[in-house]
Amino acid sequence: MKERIRIAIVGCGAIAHWHLDAVDRAGVPISVAAAIDPVAEHARRIAARTGATPYLSLDAALDAGGFEAALIAVPHGRHEAIASAALRAGLHVLLEKPLAPTVHACERILDTARAAGTVFMVAENAQYWPEVLTVRALLHDGAIGEVVTARAATFFPALADFYGGDRSWRFDQAEAGGGVVIDTGSHWLRPLRMWLGEVDEVVAALGRPDPRMEGESLCRALLRFTTGTIASFDAMLTTGGIAPQPLFTVTGTTGELTVEGSGWVKLWDGTDRKGKKIGEPGGYLRSYEAELTDFASAVLHGTTPAAPAEQAVGELRLALAMYRSATSRRWEKVWR
Ligand SMILES: NC(=O)c1ccc[n+]([C@@H]2O[C@H](COP(=O)([O-])OP(=O)(O)OC[C@H]3O[C@@H](n4cnc5c(N)ncnc54)[C@H](O)[C@@H]3O)[C@@H](O)[C@H]2O)c1
Repeated sequence: MKERIRIAIVGCGAIAHWHLDAVDRAGVPISVAAAIDPVAEHARRIAARTGATPYLSLDAALDAGGFEAALIAVPHGRHEAIASAALRAGLHVLLEKPLAPTVHACERILDTARAAGTVFMVAENAQYWPEVLTVRALLHDGAIGEVVTARAATFFPALADFYGGDRSWRFDQAEAGGGVVIDTGSHWLRPLRMWLGEVDEVVAALGRPDPRMEGESLCRALLRFTTGTIASFDAMLTTGGIAPQPLFTVTGTTGELTVEGSGWVKLWDGTDRKGKKIGEPGGYLRSYEAELTDFASAVLHGTTPAAPAEQAVGELRLALAMYRSATSRRWEKVWR
């Protein structure tokens, strides 16, 4: 049996480096054989750190060969073309979220993946976020009784890695498919779905406090789950300082759970004024390690990934329903 997967990195920008950091930290059995990016300098940077061969296009790399999998991390508007080409070439694929910016594009990619029969995962790292898994276990064990409501909130600055340069593609509606909801929002929406089940309908208001961004840089939304539970989702690209706040709050009949920015899950059941720290501190970055380990295991050993790629259609549908709601000013069904 092969010991390591040889991958091509398609899109050698910011997140590709985070993935490589995670591979290094966790010793994931992945070697990078090809670094592909139309911006030669980006491909060269990944090549320099990994020993990979740099290419300017996926086609050129496929002609040369030497890898059986691809990590695709390109702007959203290019997900379908690149992922489809990689799958048709018989590669295993780990495609960054969102699966695609439209439901039809998602369905076409999923069809192509089924026909290819290779491993196809969407890199929704929140599926592997240690604190999120801790909360899931605590809810399962009844730590806060029955869930009454939940809140997910992501207020974050435009980090230079992701929003810097001349003009980030994230500011363009055509490249990104929207703003903070379709992009970063998925990492806050996936946990809500893992804990509370499927969302039936949403109502949302959007704002554009960051004038550089064509899509929304602020969202306030309510989600009604099929169980009837209501949660709120807030996202904002901040333009100034902000106070610390929990990333998630889940309120139950007997207590509350919070996920703190520090990486701690806290239980608030009235016994500890500062909240009871549960387990070990997790950390968002550890989610990438588990995700890449899961992908490598699926390719090398045929194990089943933690979530099917189809699951990622849910976060995209949620984002699109919020966009419809912001226009209609009504509750919008997510699965219509
Ligand atoms: N899971 C996460 O936490 C997370 C975080 C950030 C970004 N992402 C996702 O990763 C993807 C990339 O985001 P990023 O922040 O790295 O963006 P980025 O702009 O830093 O990098 C994208 C790279 O893709 C390259 N590219 C464009 N077209 C290409 C093509 N046809 N072939 C090969 N390369 C091409 C660009 O030149 C650039 O180097 C997006 O889907 C984004 O949503 C995920």
